[in-house]
Amino acid sequence: MACRICNSFTEEVLNLGLTPPANSLLDSSLAVQQTFPLVLELCESCYNVQLRDCLSSEELYLKYLYITPESTMLTRHYRYLYGYLESSGYIKKESFVVEVGSNVGLFLKFIRNKVSRVVGIDPAENICKIANEAGVDTICDFFNSESALIIRDQYGVPDIIIARHCFAHNSNPHVLMKGVTTLLSDSGYLVIENSYLLNTIENNEFDQVYHEHMFYYSIRSMMALLNIHGLRLIDVMTSLIHGGSIVFVAKRENDGIIINPSVNEYLECEQMFINRQSLKNFADKAYEIRGQIGKLIKNLRNTGKTIYTYGATAKGNTLLNFVGLTCNEIPLCIDSTPGKQGKYLPQSYIKVIPEDEGLLNPPDYFLLTAWNYRDEIINKVREAGNYHSKFIIPIPFVHIV
Ligand code: TMP
Repeated sequence: MACRICNSFTEEVLNLGLTPPANSLLDSSLAVQQTFPLVLELCESCYNVQLRDCLSSEELYLKYLYITPESTMLTRHYRYLYGYLESSGYIKKESFVVEVGSNVGLFLKFIRNKVSRVVGIDPAENICKIANEAGVDTICDFFNSESALIIRDQYGVPDIIIARHCFAHNSNPHVLMKGVTTLLSDSGYLVIENSYLLNTIENNEFDQVYHEHMFYYSIRSMMALLNIHGLRLIDVMTSLIHGGSIVFVAKRENDGIIINPSVNEYLECEQMFINRQSLKNFADKAYEIRGQIGKLIKNLRNTGKTIYTYGATAKGNTLLNFVGLTCNEIPLCIDSTPGKQGKYLPQSYIKVIPEDEGLLNPPDYFLLTAWNYRDEIINKVREAGNYHSKFIIPIPFVHIV
C-alpha cells in the first residue's frame, strides 16, 4: 500500500487477524459484532508503521467509551510534561493553550491555573459533556481546518497546540496538520505526544496495535509529516507513560528556529534500532507471547485456578483476541470506568465488573491487561487487603508477580 504520510510503498510486518474495534464494548453477551483486519505495515522511506485498514473516525469516536482514568501515574506525568514545557520556555503564564483530543479534560484541568486560558476540542459528545460540566471549555468537533477556524474566531490564536495520544487516531494525519497550520500563531509551538515506535517494538508491545492506533510514529516519520506542512521538529522528550511515549515539539519553518540537540541524539539511536529486522523480531515476539499466554492460562485452568483480567483496555482486547481467550477461560474483567462496567469485552464476551466487586471474591490470578498502570494497580489491590491474587504480566515478557 502507499504510506499515508509520504506516499512511498509499505510492506506488511504483522497480521493480528480479524477483530472488532478494541473499545467497542458490548451491551449484551448475545450481541454480534463486525470484525476488521488488523494488519501492520512498515514504510521504509519515512519509517512509519501504520495500519493497512483504517476505520472511519465517525465510526470510532462519535460515541466513545474511553475516559482518561483518574490515576496517580497520569497526574505525575502531567506534572512532568508541564515541567518540561515550562522549563524549556514552550509554555508560559500568559500562554493560550488548545488541546486536541482533550477527552474529559484532565490535562487541561491540571494546567489551567498555570496559563492564561485553555480550550479543548474532542469529537465525542458524551466525553465533551463531562469535560464542560467539570468546567473545562471543550468544543465538540473533529479537529481540522474548519474547526480550527471556528476556534480562531471564537477564542483567538493559541500560543501552543497540544495533541496527546490522538495523532495516531485519524487515518489522514494531513487533515490534523492542516488544522494546526490554520490555527497556530506564527511563533507558536505544536506539541504532539504519542506512543514511541522504538519503545513499542523494543518492549514487544504488539497489544498496542488496534484500530484506533493507525500510526506508530518514529522521529523520522514525524519529521516527514511536519516538513510536508511547513513545520519543523525542534525538540523531543521521552517518558515511560503508556509503555514508552515521546513528545515532539515543532514550530513553523519560517520562525527563528533553534533545534535542541536531543533531536539528533534520539535520531541516531532510532536509526540503529528501527529497521526491517527489528520489526521482524517484534512480529516473532508477538507470536511467542501469544503461545506462552495461551499455554499458561490453559495450565492454570486445568489445575482449577480462577483468572480475571484487570483493565478493560483496548490493548487488552487485542491481546485476548490474538491469543484466542474468551469468557470460557476468563469470566470477568475488573475496571474502574463506570461506563464500561456491566458491558462485555468485544469478541471475548468477558463481563466487566467494578473494582470493589472484584475484591469480594478475588481470583487466583489477574491477567494484567492494564500493564501500563502495573505498580498503581498492584498497590491498590494489596492496600485493599487482597494478598491472595497473583498478577500475570504479559508485556514486555510473560511473568508472574
Ligand atoms: P488505558 O491503558 O487505555 O489508559 O486504560 C486503562 C484502563 O484501566 C481504563 O479502562 C481504566 C482501568 N483502570 C482500572 O481499572 N484501575 C486503575 O487503577 C487504573 C489506573 C486504570
